[in-house]
Amino acid sequence: MPHAASSKKKKKKKQVSSTTPVVATDSTTGIRTMAVDIGGSGVKAMLLDEAGKPLTERLRAKTPQPSTPKAIIQIIADFGKQLGDFDRVSVGYPGVIKKGVVYTAANLDKKWIEYPFAENLSTELGKPVRLANDAVVQGLGGVSGEGVELVLTLGTGMGAALYLEGVPIPSFEMGHHPFRNDKTYEDELGRRALAKEGRKKWNKRLAEAIDQLYKVFYYDRLYIGGGNAAKISIELPKDAKIISNEEGILGGIKLWQQNLDELQQ
Ligand code: BGC
Repeated sequence: MPHAASSKKKKKKKQVSSTTPVVATDSTTGIRTMAVDIGGSGVKAMLLDEAGKPLTERLRAKTPQPSTPKAIIQIIADFGKQLGDFDRVSVGYPGVIKKGVVYTAANLDKKWIEYPFAENLSTELGKPVRLANDAVVQGLGGVSGEGVELVLTLGTGMGAALYLEGVPIPSFEMGHHPFRNDKTYEDELGRRALAKEGRKKWNKRLAEAIDQLYKVFYYDRLYIGGGNAAKISIELPKDAKIISNEEGILGGIKLWQQNLDELQQ
């Protein structure tokens, strides 16, 4: 099958220049967006200009334990102070979001469930906030916008987002779908599985998952992101590519540029 993944190393990484300042300089004009990516192990943020180009370095803090809404909002507020002026906020959250409200928290504190995150964060920062699933945001930064595109993110959990002509299907929680041996994709490919089973076995499972998902969705292109994408040693199919972690944040601009009303308030 031409699509199939095989076992040779392939890696691609894009970094924000290390000369990018921590604080946006005064010479930068136009609307500034603070883009935030919340993960099971880290919370990251940077400022973007109107075109989605980084204005600052990416700040990172460890996800607090317990990872409550209050503790994470505090981190985001601190980032806001460090990064300088901004006009609006985009957030990628690792769970189901509907109209700014969180519905699941597989890898975060359960206090997130039914939490009106967009509204409360907006009140805390005094800025408008747009919120979507982390994999959705990551994909917005990377997909071509043509045909059917699948994004998988490999980190603490397994994120998934499916796009038709660049528009994401909301709440596409493939990570929690059964995959093999009564385990879900996330059970088999998340951070805990990688730590327990080691890279070789994890890569073999990933190849199996890619083949299986292709048979279900017949996507035109596949993108794989997340912190553990760097651990991929299989050769990906020709219609697949690795997207950088930065895209998880750069996609934040698209929440404001695209007409994604179904994802917003
Ligand atoms: C969540 C997804 C999220 C993924 C990656 C999963 O456990 O259910 O919504 O995208 O982790 O963070």
